[in-house]
Amino acid sequence: MRIVVLTGAGVSAESGVPTFRDAGGLWDGHDPMTVATPEAFDRDPTLVQRFYDERRAALARVQPNAAHQALARLEAELGGDDLYLVTQNIDDLHERGGSRRVHHMHGRLRAAWCTACDARHDWETTLVDRPPCPACGSPQLRPDVVWFGEVPYDMEAIEEALWACDLFVSIGTSGVVYPAAAFVHYAIGNGRQTLELNLDESDTTSDFHQSRRGPATELVPAWVDEVLR
Ligand code: OAD
Ligand code: ZN
Repeated sequence: MRIVVLTGAGVSAESGVPTFRDAGGLWDGHDPMTVATPEAFDRDPTLVQRFYDERRAALARVQPNAAHQALARLEAELGGDDLYLVTQNIDDLHERGGSRRVHHMHGRLRAAWCTACDARHDWETTLVDRPPCPACGSPQLRPDVVWFGEVPYDMEAIEEALWACDLFVSIGTSGVVYPAAAFVHYAIGNGRQTLELNLDESDTTSDFHQSRRGPATELVPAWVDEVLR
C-alpha cells in the first residue's frame, strides 16, 4: 500500500513545540504578517531573524515523540518508496525520530538560504548577526523557510505522490493554510482513501472519509500498528 502522510504542528505539540493557531500558539494574539512574509523581512529583518533564531535555538530543548517515532517505524517497515512523508513543520523532529525521507514543504529552521548566490546551507546558530554565506561571503542569509506569499517546496513531487498513493493521511493540521489544506481534495478527486488524525476538528474534517480525534502520540502509533498488522 502506498501512503502519503501530511503532518502539521499538532504532531510536534506534545514535544513542546507550540502550534500556530491553538490557544497559546505562536500566532495566538499575533499577526503572522509581522514576521512570516517577505515584506516583513524587508521592513524589519532584525525582528524576523530574531523570531526564527529563537525558534531554531528552542529545537535543542525538545525531543521527538511517539508520533514521530511511529512514522519512522512505518517508513522502515513499509519501505521508503511506499511512504511519502510531507510536513508543514520546519522543526527537525521527524528526522530525529528516525524518518529518513522527509519533505519539508515549508522549509527548515535548521537551514539558511543566501539571497545573494542562492546557496542553501545547514544552519545551527543565529542569523540576526548577519554571518557571511559560506559559499559567497555575502551577509545575506535568511531562514530557509517558506513565508506567506511564497511558493512551498516540492509541490510537483507532492502532487505526483498524491496521485500515485492508495491512502492520504493528514495528522495534526488545522487545514487552514493552502496548498496543504487542499491535498485532501486532490486525493479524493483522484479516488484515493483519506484519513485524518487530529486533536480537534479541523477546517477540512468533513472532507475526509474518516477522521479520528485525539492526541498524535496515541492516534499515530495505533494507526501505524493497524497498517503494519
Ligand atoms: P495549526 O496551529 O494551524 O494547527 C494545529 C492543529 O493541530 C490543530 O488542528 C490542533 O487541533 C491540532 N493539534 C494540537 N495538538 C495536537 C496533538 N497533541 N495531537 C494531534 N493534533 C493536535 O498548525 P498547522 O496546521 O501545522 O506555515 O499550520 C499550518 C501552517 O500555518 C504552518 O506550517 C505555518 C503556519 O502559518 C507557514 O509558516 C508558512
Ligand atoms: Zn551566498
